Amino acid sequence: MKTKIQELHSKIEKFVAENNESLENFRLEFLSKKGKIQSLFADFKDVSKEEKPLVGQLLNNLKNVASERYELMKSKMTTAETQEVDYVDLSMSADFEPIGARHPISLVRKEIIEIFNRIGFVISEGPEIEDDFHNFTALNFPEEHPARDMQDTFFVQKNPDIALRTHTSSVQVRVMENQKPPIRTISPGRVFRNEAISARAHCIFHQIEGLYVDTDVSFADLKQTLMYFAKEMFGAETKIRFRPSYFPFTEPSAEMDVSCNICGGKGCNVCKYSGWLEILGCGMVDPNVLKNCNINPETYTGFAFGMGIERITMLKYQVKDLRFFFENDLRFLKQFTGAF
Ligand code: DAH
Repeated sequence: MKTKIQELHSKIEKFVAENNESLENFRLEFLSKKGKIQSLFADFKDVSKEEKPLVGQLLNNLKNVASERYELMKSKMTTAETQEVDYVDLSMSADFEPIGARHPISLVRKEIIEIFNRIGFVISEGPEIEDDFHNFTALNFPEEHPARDMQDTFFVQKNPDIALRTHTSSVQVRVMENQKPPIRTISPGRVFRNEAISARAHCIFHQIEGLYVDTDVSFADLKQTLMYFAKEMFGAETKIRFRPSYFPFTEPSAEMDVSCNICGGKGCNVCKYSGWLEILGCGMVDPNVLKNCNINPETYTGFAFGMGIERITMLKYQVKDLRFFFENDLRFLKQFTGAF
C-alpha cells in the first residue's frame, strides 16, 4: 500500500496539463469517485492496525496533493486560454476604417477665409436669430421693402421683431456698433430665406460678408480687393467686371462677375454663352448705415460685399444642383478631398 501511494504521489507531482482533455483525464484518474485515490481509501480497511495511522496520513496527504495539482493546472489552463484570445498577430493587415472628409461647403468657406485673412481681414460672427434692427433697419431697408415680407423671411412666431437672418450683412452692423474703424472683417455664416427648394434655391444656405471701413476708402479699393480674391479663388487668368445694381445698404452698388472658368470667357453652357459668371454683390457702405452704427460718415467711408458659398462652390466644382449639398449622399461627398 505504501509503495503504491508513493508511486501515485510522484506521478501526480509530475503531471502537467497540456490541454483541457488531459486535465479532465487527470481528474478522472485520481480524483473522481471511481479514481485511483478513492479505491486506495476502499482498500484502507485491509491495512493492519499498527500501520493504519501512518498509511491514513499518507493517503490524506496524497488526496490533498492531487487536488492542489488539479487546481494549479486548471488555473494555468484558464490564463493560457485568455492569453490566446488576447493574442494579436502583428503581421496581419489592418482593417480598413473609412475616414470622413470635409464637406465641400466647409472646404470652400475655409478657402475664402484664408484668401481674405492674407490681406488682413479678420473673422467676425453674429447670431442666426436676429432682430429687425440688425437685419433690416440699420441696413437702410425701407419700411415697405419686400424682404421684410413674410413671403421672404422666417419670422419667429408671435414676435415680428425677431427673424432668422436673411443675410450675413447683419453682422456688419454688429461689428460697426462694437468696433472703431479701421475695420476689416469677413463674416461667414448660415442664412435663411422663405424660398421653395429647387436646383438653384434653398431655404438655408451660407454666405460670407465682407466689410472695410477706414478713412479714404474708395471704390478703387473695393475693386482691387475683389480682383485679388477672384484671381486667388478661380485662377490668375480670371477677369472681373462690375455691373450697376441696387442694395439698400450700399451706394453705389454693383454686382461682380468673373470670367467663366470653364470656357475661359469664350462661352459655354455653364455661363450660358455669356463668358461671365455672377458671384457677388458689393458697393460703398451707404452713409445712412454708418450713421445707424454711430460711425461718422464725414470722417469714414467703407465698402462691403456679400457672396453665397454654395454659388462659389457650384462654380468651382461644377455642381449643377444646390440640393446635393444638403442630401448627405456619400457618393457625392466622397468626391471632395481634404483630410481632417
Ligand atoms: N446681403 C446681400 C444678399 O444677401 C449681399 C450683399 C450685397 C452684401 C451687397 C453686401 C453688399 O455687403 O454690399 O443678397
